[in-house]
Amino acid sequence: SNISLIGVPMQFGADRAGVEMGPTAIRSSNIQTRLEALGYRVNDLGDIHVNRVQDGYGPVAKLKYLAEIARVNEELAQVVSQEMGNGQLPLVIGGDHSIAIGTIKGVLQHKSRLGVIWFDAHTDVNTAETTGSGNIHGMSLAVLLGYGHPSLVSIAGEHTRVNPRNVVIIGARSVDPGERIFLKEQGIRVFTMYDIDKYGMKAVMEEAMERVTAGTDGVHLSLDLDGMDPMEAPGVGTPVRGGMSYRESHFAMEMLHESGMLVSAEVVEVNPILDQNNMTAKAAVELVGSVFGERIL
Ligand code: ARG
Ligand code: MN
Ligand code: MN
Ligand code: MN
Repeated sequence: SNISLIGVPMQFGADRAGVEMGPTAIRSSNIQTRLEALGYRVNDLGDIHVNRVQDGYGPVAKLKYLAEIARVNEELAQVVSQEMGNGQLPLVIGGDHSIAIGTIKGVLQHKSRLGVIWFDAHTDVNTAETTGSGNIHGMSLAVLLGYGHPSLVSIAGEHTRVNPRNVVIIGARSVDPGERIFLKEQGIRVFTMYDIDKYGMKAVMEEAMERVTAGTDGVHLSLDLDGMDPMEAPGVGTPVRGGMSYRESHFAMEMLHESGMLVSAEVVEVNPILDQNNMTAKAAVELVGSVFGERIL
């Protein structure tokens, strides 16, 4: 099958320099040849253009760079939808996690009952009312559930949403007070680091896969590299200690591949300026290898 690689050098959702170089670092770590070695035909579409806007704040206070983030995600949703329409599997490389809005809304045009695996130290369900930072990368999952500024929620159509019953978050260990309330109200299954320690990644992924495959027509992987422990993936803008190990992360990817349900994926938050020896970009490419079918033997 065929993969379309789409770069999105977005930093405005994180409001921290460096993450816009993520696509370059991931490409330099040979993502394309790695996928081709697995038998895929890879079409690299290059990067979606992100304007260098000056204003720190969009028209709405507490939603930094709202206008440009909305514009880029609108375009990303169109490109992703077009690629899927051509039978391609979209693989989006970021860029900060605000780009999940465009990726997933594009996928939803073809897979309206989509399961989502959100691999992350954070839960990204803030809104303008609950955010402390004003950074939209901490709000993207809320937007995808239908909560947030209309210019984001309406991308690719007002009613393009994911069902909270088919969303799982894996690896959470930094959840804001307002997010806790939101997650509970929405009934989102969050597998925290406590659950991974207590039950192990195998049991966690078995339950997670049940959630994201029950009644769905495909599964999307939203892979935020800060889900991994910062000792093994230091090149991220919002590191939180006590994360998933290199092997736990790989095993989750291997189990997701085994389901045969993966229809799209994105890799976000790789920040080469903060990285050490390119290890985070390398880990990103290695995890992509596993989720697309690499095996040890
Ligand atoms: N919860 C914090 C915030 O809303 C951190 C979010 C980090 N998100 C991310 N995709 N790295 O600002
Ligand atoms: Mn995130
Ligand atoms: Mn995160
Ligand atoms: Mn552990």
